[in-house]
Amino acid sequence: MQTRTLGTTGPTVSALGLGCMGMSDLYGPADEAEGLATLRAALDAGVTLLDTGDFYGMGANELLIRAALKGRPRDNAVVSVKFGALRDYSGNWLGLDGRPAAVKTFLAYTLRRLGTDYVDIYRLTRPDPAVPIEETVGAIADEVRAGRVRHVGLSESGPETIRRASSVHPVSDLQIEYSLLSRGIEAKILPTCRALGVGITAYGVLSRGLLSGHWSKDRALAPGDFRGHAPRFSGPNLERNLALVEALRGVAEGLGITVAQAAIAWVLSRGDDIVPLVGARTRERLAEALGAVDVRLGRDDLLRIEAAVPPGAAAGERYPAPQMGMLDSEREAAAG
Ligand SMILES: NC(=O)c1ccc[n+]([C@@H]2O[C@H](COP(=O)([O-])OP(=O)(O)OC[C@H]3O[C@@H](n4cnc5c(N)ncnc54)[C@H](OP(=O)(O)O)[C@@H]3O)[C@@H](O)[C@H]2O)c1
Repeated sequence: MQTRTLGTTGPTVSALGLGCMGMSDLYGPADEAEGLATLRAALDAGVTLLDTGDFYGMGANELLIRAALKGRPRDNAVVSVKFGALRDYSGNWLGLDGRPAAVKTFLAYTLRRLGTDYVDIYRLTRPDPAVPIEETVGAIADEVRAGRVRHVGLSESGPETIRRASSVHPVSDLQIEYSLLSRGIEAKILPTCRALGVGITAYGVLSRGLLSGHWSKDRALAPGDFRGHAPRFSGPNLERNLALVEALRGVAEGLGITVAQAAIAWVLSRGDDIVPLVGARTRERLAEALGAVDVRLGRDDLLRIEAAVPPGAAAGERYPAPQMGMLDSEREAAAG
């Protein structure tokens, strides 16, 4: 497995990370046994970066990772954990909590669930508008000094937040959506990260499955599946986006790779400071994703891929309006 280093101070990780969210939450019913088998297969294949959130399956996702790591040396994995989301019994979103006392509390619960005495990368899932980022990052930095966290990360943050956070403690990586369909980070966020030595862990590389080549407009969505109310998956937007996928399929077939592999390889080609997280939930999808790591896209291949899915071509925003409004990364980009 090839490796990449996250930022100037972050850990060296597999060139492809495994995003574990869909194994426990947000994409309809999850098959826990297959999720565990997928995690173990990823570790066996040399994937070291595992991404989770304490709120994915209300802790269930961390317990799944604990099971996968059982019997393996702890340092075989780089576990990235997001915290700060408040949810009710039914999983509804209630807000954020980035207060220092919350950081310490969330982390204590996470360590118990993971069955480990440290988290590799710890990050607030979204900046909390009620708490200056300096306070949240300062509290994580205390945990770094105590040995319970190795690195500070950020998620969906804009340039100013990235700068402010970095002034308190070095930031290993910003986790943010980045794909052929979501190129918003290229204007300001990516240059800011590069100037500050902050790496990128890119999520939604397959645009939540839309850009995988396996989606169709007839696919039935289970209750609770995020995609049931995601703008890019609805009505005429979905038809327009699937037309882009078909154009990409034509290019991918010419290269002898799948649509998903083309989408992942494109993100890998954007810089050694970017590590795609793929949300594979099954061993079959994982094997497909891993096949992208050795794909080398030449200049002409990249031009053909970007002609099939040009910047700004996506129909619909990446989140429903209320969630878009909560994104610091979008707010700052819009403000200029
Ligand atoms: N920081 C943040 O705000 C944030 C937000 C969202 C996610 N994340 C993290 O990023 C990870 C990845 O994000 P994501 O799952 O939303 O996006 P993704 O990787 O773009 O999409 C994953 C979906 O794509 C489908 N898929 C089809 N072919 C695939 C293949 N070969 N490999 C992998 N998936 C394939 C899977 O659906 P089927 O299994 O149904 O085929 C899966 O549900 C998450 O697990 C989470 O850890 C972070």
